[in-house]
Amino acid sequence: MPKVTAQGKTFECSVGDNLCEVLSNNGIELYNGNAKILNCKGVGACGACTVRVDGNVSKRSWIENIWRSLPLSSPMADRRLACQTKVLGDVEVIKFEGFLGRGTDPVWTSEGKTEKVA
Ligand code: FES
Repeated sequence: MPKVTAQGKTFECSVGDNLCEVLSNNGIELYNGNAKILNCKGVGACGACTVRVDGNVSKRSWIENIWRSLPLSSPMADRRLACQTKVLGDVEVIKFEGFLGRGTDPVWTSEGKTEKVA
């Protein structure tokens, strides 16, 4: 079973599980600030679930490719939409600052929360 590590916690899931759901089901706050309320609930329309994922995951969906084609998305070359990402093997997840998580400073890493708050 794949292991997902985020905020210093590691949990198992099944191959193909949705990363957004895995994090949420294990108590990991995926959204920054008002994005906790103002998000699309996983349909790929808002970008608020953006994270960096290191490990074996699904290829980018067509929705993610559209996001990447937008001018504002250039810093997101290493980012994924958690709601569009399937876990295929062990992964480590990092969340960055900003409403959409597109910042450069992490809010939390696979090792735990940082001192900076989004
Ligand atoms: S929750 Fe809106 S794009 Fe993922």
